[in-house]
Amino acid sequence: MIKMSFDSREQALQKTPPEQPPGANPAPILRDRTPARRVALVGFGTVGRAVAKILCERRNEAGLLRLTHICNRNVERKKQPWVPSEVIWTEDFGAILNSDADIVIELIGGLTPAEELVRSALNAGKSVVTANKQLIARHGPDLLELASANGCQLEFGASVAGGVPVLPALRTGLCGDRLHGIAGILNGTCNYILSRIETDRIPFSEALEEAQARGYAEADASEDLDGGDARAKLSILALAGLHVRISPGDIRARTIRGIDAVDFDYAAELGCTIRQISRADLKETTLFADVGPSLVPASSPFGRVQRNLNLVLTSGEYGGDMAFLGAGAGGDPTAVAVVSDLMFVAESLSAGPRPHRPLQLASPKVSCDFETPWYLRLVVKDQPGIIAGLAAILSAHQLNIDAVLQKPGFDKSALPFVITLEPCRDAQLHPALQEMSALPFALRPCLCLPILR
Ligand SMILES: NC(=O)c1ccc[n+]([C@@H]2O[C@H](COP(=O)([O-])OP(=O)(O)OC[C@H]3O[C@@H](n4cnc5c(N)ncnc54)[C@H](OP(=O)(O)O)[C@@H]3O)[C@@H](O)[C@H]2O)c1
Repeated sequence: MIKMSFDSREQALQKTPPEQPPGANPAPILRDRTPARRVALVGFGTVGRAVAKILCERRNEAGLLRLTHICNRNVERKKQPWVPSEVIWTEDFGAILNSDADIVIELIGGLTPAEELVRSALNAGKSVVTANKQLIARHGPDLLELASANGCQLEFGASVAGGVPVLPALRTGLCGDRLHGIAGILNGTCNYILSRIETDRIPFSEALEEAQARGYAEADASEDLDGGDARAKLSILALAGLHVRISPGDIRARTIRGIDAVDFDYAAELGCTIRQISRADLKETTLFADVGPSLVPASSPFGRVQRNLNLVLTSGEYGGDMAFLGAGAGGDPTAVAVVSDLMFVAESLSAGPRPHRPLQLASPKVSCDFETPWYLRLVVKDQPGIIAGLAAILSAHQLNIDAVLQKPGFDKSALPFVITLEPCRDAQLHPALQEMSALPFALRPCLCLPILR
């Protein structure tokens, strides 16, 4: 019943293109060559609602997409007067799977029941567009394989960096290169907190409270602060850009919780600031990957990213470095990425079924053993012999001191000071750090940040 009514409406549209008033922009060319694809939306929250809005407002203009269903739990409370009356509101995934929708948009988030829904849709021959980073980070390769085996598509352009089109760029504009490195500011919450501490030298706790009050951080912000969110995104970027299959849990994540205003004072002395940086470098059969707070030059692209923006830099063998900057979250920017994926899928579907091609993914060893200079910040009870004690440990581990920084004016009973080290491997440094943190005058574990030049 539903199928017939949509088919007939679509046929009518194709037979009688709307007349254009004189001087009006012509209808998009896609409209003439591509039949409208039926789209079912699952999840009518922040992003889902913004996606529906674009699809409804632009339905005559971007005629290649037609919203047919909106699915959400307790759906009655979600209904909106601006959604056309022919769109079916439902709480039943089964109704979507049994419908004539060509493309399912998954925007409920999380793993359960999103994973089952996406698998069922792909098995039913429907293409899927999702913004779900958890799902793609954990099951992306399997789901891409499933999509290909069923002759349909899976797109997830909004799952990293929200509205910044970095994943589509990896899929199309950069696929002619051989990328070997990806680095980014991928978590807007961390960037908001760090750039607020930087600007006003407020304590970490105050910056976090402010981010929560503004809706940039959840009440439990652990996933953001401790790097879980960013490493899931980094694993998706590595999948799409470096063609590797890695689990987010294999990437070391360091928390930003230990950073305080004084670290920005010391970083500034070194011409740097502090950002949560996610980086992955593919070298032969090893993927070097790390997520966590790092010193970056204040004048560098990373150093200039303020508040909750995202920035991704890619490095390719042929094309060199590229940068992608913009809003990493928010209903509207993320919805643009989802609708762009929908348009890409709709066009691809019109090209006919594609032969099944198994995914070509490497499974490299994952290591965090980067070689970099380091920033070590200690908080000590001031007494004679501190530098000598620390220097003895560093020397025993063959680590070279680059500089010792001590700003005046701090309470001698809890004195923060900094040692910078010349480049060394992470694995060489960490045993020394443990010994340094166990010294009797050390009041807290040593904060250790890579310096990225
Ligand atoms: N928000 C952003 O800025 C952003 C940016 C990039 C990517 N994303 C991703 O986009 C996806 C959606 O995010 P969002 O911010 O729109 O989330 P959201 O506001 O929480 O919306 C999720 C929607 O799905 C519904 N839902 C949840 N579980 C369901 C279930 N089992 N059955 C039916 N409906 C269910 C929710 O209903 P209730 O109203 O009952 O809870 C809600 O309407 C997530 O994967 C997220 O990671 C979001």
